[in-house]
Amino acid sequence: MRKTSIQCLVVCAALSLFCASADLKLGFYDESCPKAEKIIFDYVKKHIPHEPSLAAPLLRMHFHDCFVGGCDASILMNSTSKNQAEKSAFPNLSLRGFDFIDRVKTLIEAECPGVVSCADILALVARDSVIVTGGPFWNVPTGRRDGLISNSIEVLKNLPAPTFNFSILQTSFASKGLSLKDLVLLSGAHTIGVSHCSSFSSRLYNFTGKGDEDPSLDSFYAANLKKYKCQVPNDTTTIVEMDPGSFRTFDLGYYKHLLKRRGLFQSDAALITNAATKAYIIQLVNNPLEVFFKEFALSMEKMGRIEVKTGSLGEIRKNCAVVNS
Ligand code: HEM
Ligand SMILES: *[C@@H]1O[C@H](CO)[C@@H](O)[C@H](O)[C@H]1NC(C)=O
Ligand SMILES: *[C@@H]1O[C@H](CO)[C@@H](O)[C@H](O)[C@H]1NC(C)=O
Ligand SMILES: *[C@@H]1O[C@H](CO)[C@@H](O)[C@H](O)[C@H]1NC(C)=O
Ligand SMILES: *[C@@H]1O[C@H](CO)[C@@H](O)[C@H](O)[C@H]1NC(C)=O
Ligand SMILES: *[C@@H]1O[C@H](CO)[C@@H](O)[C@H](O)[C@H]1NC(C)=O
Repeated sequence: MRKTSIQCLVVCAALSLFCASADLKLGFYDESCPKAEKIIFDYVKKHIPHEPSLAAPLLRMHFHDCFVGGCDASILMNSTSKNQAEKSAFPNLSLRGFDFIDRVKTLIEAECPGVVSCADILALVARDSVIVTGGPFWNVPTGRRDGLISNSIEVLKNLPAPTFNFSILQTSFASKGLSLKDLVLLSGAHTIGVSHCSSFSSRLYNFTGKGDEDPSLDSFYAANLKKYKCQVPNDTTTIVEMDPGSFRTFDLGYYKHLLKRRGLFQSDAALITNAATKAYIIQLVNNPLEVFFKEFALSMEKMGRIEVKTGSLGEIRKNCAVVNS
């Protein structure tokens, strides 16, 4: 037993010299493009404060990228006459910030052409946008390579939907190597940003197909949403803060709303239907904000490693919207 594992170690170490795959590491571009991370941070710091509402969609974009075929910038690719890209799938509805990523990429290409992947740029921009708006820091090890495939069908197969219940959420996250703790923590990203009424209005107007309301939603809150926000069942334009009162601030507000049965999506509400995740949420709410920040950081780093392509896999795209020709 012992011998096999040592043999295995030796073989693996030898292989890794030739192997296409390698691990991500902090400061991957320290030698190949030493200014890359600073250029990204400076650009974000200069521009996001003027458009603070962009921090949320950029964070969400990184999540969508990672859950569909790994963090490989496939979310950034445009559709072509032959291919419907991830962008064109239904949940893209409200993704924003593609042009922001493109502008950062242009600056980076001017500094070191063909070196820094779009996947790493997206991961760093998401992190830096959250920092400059007062949110937590997390480590972003780099070395991701960009994928060659982007397919809208994969989005629906891989991305959790707001109608998911606890057990399918758990399965969905487990399939990406993420635990229930990660599920609770990463859902905490809903402390910033907004949702369209259409993402949850069935809970207000037609939960089981009988014109009814979701009984797990606080009825006072539901009444308010119907009166002031989502006034008709088919509203696809109005937006609602997911953490009302502090939707620009990365805080514990989202979890406090969950405990009052005011989570906006069934997938948010689901987190208090399980004893273990509910207990964990209560713990987060009762601890200083720094505890959430520290734990969130660990889960984000983990999410950023989902099915990454490294070494000689994939490519370094020149333009984030298209594969290199
Ligand atoms: C647990 C499964 C999740 C589901 C079902 C889910 C679903 C959604 C939906 C439906 C929206 C609103 C889209 C709209 O109508 O405009 C949204 C927004 C958002 N999601 Fe999630 N999400 C999940 C997890 C995550 C994770 C892991 C992150 C990031 C780490 C994240 C970050 C965000 C952010 C920041 C927004 C606001 C975007 C904006 O303001 O434009 N979500 N999510
Ligand atoms: C990708 O699509 C966007 C939006 O439709 C467009 O502005 C951009 O020019 C396209 N990029 C490329 C390289 O085709
Ligand atoms: C999002 O998908 C819809 C179709 O579901 C499409 O009409 C729209 O152009 C897409 N948006 C982007 C930014 O690609
Ligand atoms: C959760 O949703 C799945 C898929 O829709 C369904 O099969 C399952 O019965 C649901 N679980 C519970 C506990 O409602
Ligand atoms: C509610 O859903 C059912 C079944 O999907 C549908 O037949 C009905 O028209 C819907 N009612 C409203 C008010 O949208
Ligand atoms: C929603 O439906 C109502 C009637 O069913 C219609 O009058 C209204 O124009 C629709 N609104 C939108 C935004 O589609």
